[in-house]
Amino acid sequence: MTKVFKVGLVGCGHIAETYFRAHKYFNNFKIVKCADINYVASKKCASLYNIKALSVNNLLNDKEIEIILNLTIPKAHYEVSKKALLHNKHVYTEKPMAINVENAKELLKIAKRKNLYIGNAPDTFLGGGNQKAKELIERNFIGKINLGNMIFAYPGIQSYHPNPEPWFAKKEGGPAIDMGPYYLTALVNLLGPAKQVWGSLMKSKKKRRIGIGPKKGKLIKVNCPTTYLGTIFFKNNSIIRFTLSFDVVAHHRNHIELYGEEGSIIVPDPNMFGGSVYVSKKLGGTWKEYKTDKMPLGKINIRQKSLRANEASINANYRGVGLSEMAYCIKNKKKHRCNGELSLHVLDIIKSIMKAASQKKRVNINTSCKIPKKFNLNEIRKIIK
Ligand SMILES: NC(=O)c1ccc[n+]([C@@H]2O[C@H](COP(=O)([O-])OP(=O)(O)OC[C@H]3O[C@@H](n4cnc5c(N)ncnc54)[C@H](O)[C@@H]3O)[C@@H](O)[C@H]2O)c1
Repeated sequence: MTKVFKVGLVGCGHIAETYFRAHKYFNNFKIVKCADINYVASKKCASLYNIKALSVNNLLNDKEIEIILNLTIPKAHYEVSKKALLHNKHVYTEKPMAINVENAKELLKIAKRKNLYIGNAPDTFLGGGNQKAKELIERNFIGKINLGNMIFAYPGIQSYHPNPEPWFAKKEGGPAIDMGPYYLTALVNLLGPAKQVWGSLMKSKKKRRIGIGPKKGKLIKVNCPTTYLGTIFFKNNSIIRFTLSFDVVAHHRNHIELYGEEGSIIVPDPNMFGGSVYVSKKLGGTWKEYKTDKMPLGKINIRQKSLRANEASINANYRGVGLSEMAYCIKNKKKHRCNGELSLHVLDIIKSIMKAASQKKRVNINTSCKIPKKFNLNEIRKIIK
């Protein structure tokens, strides 16, 4: 019989609903209790999902809980994850793993010492879109990849998040730390670890106006750069140009394009799970479409446009698969894919981009990680309902 891990949720905010939705798709975890520094938020979450609300300390001391799901804001990730590990719980955290590399390294060290699992979002690279691209690249459809482009650019979260302040805060704000994890994890999954970065930055507006919720209309201060442009050099010698921006009203570029010696590939949105992959092998030739909507983690499951701007009725969202895959690996003593080494390396790339841009110099990446193995159908079938 499948073991169902009892999960304690810390941080009952905006994204929590997505993880409760994951109960519908995955068979091996159940969020049974929740906590938040804001007791009203945890009570509301508990009554909505018919679970128990506890204080954070009581949740951490609760013997029933095996995994802490850390959905707090980025600057609290380190503190909450550390406490969870010290209370002998496995941890799965929303992105980023922490807001600085030293804290992330410490978390990894504690987890190793205590023989506990530490896992992190994003898990979108386990979706049909990125996995299909990985399959085609590994089958050498476009030859050796030398170059590429990636872009995440939009006007910012302030219009649709009721508490957007952390996205514009000095240490943990900005598009690199917010959206970088999706794009960079997707790239590391396809190309392997990075070795060096450089870039430039800008901050367009000093203040932004909140567009939704109780604080609608309030102006908040922007305390961080809101655009990063630059280049990532990967260990496999591919060179990728990137744009990460909260300063773009609209654009019409592909999320990720990779250029190989025998063709080019368009990789779908790394913030979602599905989407088609396109390959062209000839200048001016056709782009062959590889659909992912029949794949178990690519099937369209979003029926309505939600408050999260990227969720529309053409998308697949299976967030929580990383937690489920980690639970499977705990049970079967295997290495999980959304592991601490991968997230630490991605955080290191992000922080190095920020450093390179602010100090106007190339920065070497000192961490590394193994390229995650393809997530095959047999493995997916074991955790999917
Ligand atoms: N909002 C999204 O669409 C989205 C999407 C993907 C990922 N994420 C990630 O999920 C995380 C949470 O985002 P969100 O939008 O849900 O934020 P949110 O502000 O809506 O919710 C965060 C919750 O954590 C609580 N909290 C903060 N510090 C805490 C602490 N020390 N201990 C206990 N509780 C604490 C807050 O009170 C709040 O209820 C972030 O890391 C974000 O990057 C968000």
